[in-house]
Amino acid sequence: MAQVEVLIDVDTGVDDALALSFAALHPDINLRAVTCVAGNASLDNVYRNTRAVLAVAGAGHVPVARGASRPLIAAPRDAAHVHGHNGLAGLDLAVPEGGSDIHAVELMRREILASPTPPTLIALAPLTNVALLLRMYPEVAARLDRIVFMGGSASIGNATPVAEFNSWADPEAVAIVVDSGIPTVMYGLDVFYSAAVSEDDVAALERSSRPVAQLCAKLFRHMAVKDSDQKRIPAGTIAALGDAGTVCAVVDPAGLTTHRFPVSVCTDGSRSRGQTIVDRRSHRGESELNGASLGQPVDVALAVDGARLAQLFRRTILGSSGG
Ligand code: RIB
Ligand code: CA
Repeated sequence: MAQVEVLIDVDTGVDDALALSFAALHPDINLRAVTCVAGNASLDNVYRNTRAVLAVAGAGHVPVARGASRPLIAAPRDAAHVHGHNGLAGLDLAVPEGGSDIHAVELMRREILASPTPPTLIALAPLTNVALLLRMYPEVAARLDRIVFMGGSASIGNATPVAEFNSWADPEAVAIVVDSGIPTVMYGLDVFYSAAVSEDDVAALERSSRPVAQLCAKLFRHMAVKDSDQKRIPAGTIAALGDAGTVCAVVDPAGLTTHRFPVSVCTDGSRSRGQTIVDRRSHRGESELNGASLGQPVDVALAVDGARLAQLFRRTILGSSGG
């Protein structure tokens, strides 16, 4: 596979950290920039966690920028009950000196324009930064090859009975992204928990002398506690890849099954706010025949070869040996 030019937007976050570790190490990814947005944790915690994780993964040279400290309209609400008080399972990683004052949207714009080929923007967090990019620099955003976002669901939610956390956190941002017309892949809850690692995978990471493997093992152990009573991950596994599955699927698209459907998002209503409406009908209904909008077509992930992506993740973090 030719190397893919990639920008990643994160709310690091335990599974964002797993995703960054994979992206930093996989040879088919040229990680051009990482941008931070409030979500799982505060913007400051996300920024600190992101730079610390990249340093452990040997990618301390990758530019990192802060973006939105809150959603476009909604109040900020974190996921500390999942990711810990600091957003990184309470781990206290060393944070590199330095940093940058460039805003996330400006860094995205700079790297999209500088990329030798149209880059892929992978969004693993509330879509606030991506929405701001699309509003501030639509002509630059149009140079993206595609947007691959972890978010939404064609079935049940996690933050609410019907809404996934990233979509629920900033539904207006989701609306801006799915209505943009930029080729978009939705890696939602329909596949999010299906790619997961086993006890043997985590034990192999723990046996490794690589600091990044040790970090990933600790993060999986943290998630294993959260996933243990949820019955959302496949039998024989202990922790979901989560956001990391999104990046694995970019590297190995054969591991993901998508279907193109109109997608819209609910921005009104208290109980359904943040729900992504994936229209899987084969016909138009009375609402459309009376002028309602279906939503733009989005490639929605409905199935994933979880074992395949978990093996890809393990081999990448452990090196060619795969452990
Ligand atoms: O719903 C799961 C998503 O919300 C993941 O991206 C997780 O990191 C949180 O941001
Ligand atoms: Ca995330």
